[in-house]
Amino acid sequence: MRHIIDPTDLSRDEIGELIATARDITANPAAYSEKCRGKILATMFYEPSTRTRLSFESAMLSLGGSVIGFASADMSSAAKGESVADTVRVISCYADICAIRHPKEGAALVAAQYSGIPVINAGDGGHQHPTQTFTDLLTIYSLKEALSGLTVGFCGDLKFGRTVHSLLKALCLYPDNKFIMVSPKELKIPGYIRDEMACRGCQAVEAASLEDTIGQMDILYMTRVQRERFFNEEDYVRLKDSYILDMDKLAGAKPDMAILHPLPRVNEIAPEVDGDPRARYFEQVRYGKYVRMALILKLLGL
Ligand code: CP
Repeated sequence: MRHIIDPTDLSRDEIGELIATARDITANPAAYSEKCRGKILATMFYEPSTRTRLSFESAMLSLGGSVIGFASADMSSAAKGESVADTVRVISCYADICAIRHPKEGAALVAAQYSGIPVINAGDGGHQHPTQTFTDLLTIYSLKEALSGLTVGFCGDLKFGRTVHSLLKALCLYPDNKFIMVSPKELKIPGYIRDEMACRGCQAVEAASLEDTIGQMDILYMTRVQRERFFNEEDYVRLKDSYILDMDKLAGAKPDMAILHPLPRVNEIAPEVDGDPRARYFEQVRYGKYVRMALILKLLGL
């Protein structure tokens, strides 16, 4: 039995297989529509979600399986004080696989230690979000036909942005990628992520200006400032609009740069950008369902 807590729980070859399966599902959905008949996915969401929870559920339903679960902590016995360890033991009696989102870093790892079924980390606090990363990799591969030799800019909240942490780790598996990290000084990438990148021989350049660096980027990964992770509202209000991508800033970008965003968006991408052909974030959402279908099949050995 395998769990996915971190994107590097899959090897580079396995990520390649996952992308290939997701692309095959996209091309031939009918061939997969009964693969999970009789199987049950449980979604254990202790924190809000639109894309991750609903794409997992849509993925399992499109594979012919069924879904159970809860969408917030107060809809489960967590509200009565039940631990993640006990809840996942119980869920293991009802389902074949589960996806867990929790505001605390490490919660998915704890769940995996007590689970009788495969556990997928659907986001643990400001730590990791591996299935968003598999979505991002499928999107990048579909747009650029490569996961190496790219200059990838990350902009916004790089401290608390778990999607950034996971995607950086995964892109370090591939050679010749360069990273430009654009953030306010208060929201720089955590030291432990920088150390992990250095161990893999990856270098990241830090920058304060998006305008000065956007012209070098093949991919621009915009992120929301994560209000829910701040200790005080004052700091959030001061930093929330540090970077807003608009058509003026985009004027300096390559004509084939792809703009990605894990979403939800708040103010960091002006709505006027949505119509630009470089804006690929809603296409990215669609890939999330197919890659999660591929992951469910892999973890269930189907
Ligand atoms: N990208 C992402 O995790 O979105 P949700 O919070 O809506 O699941």
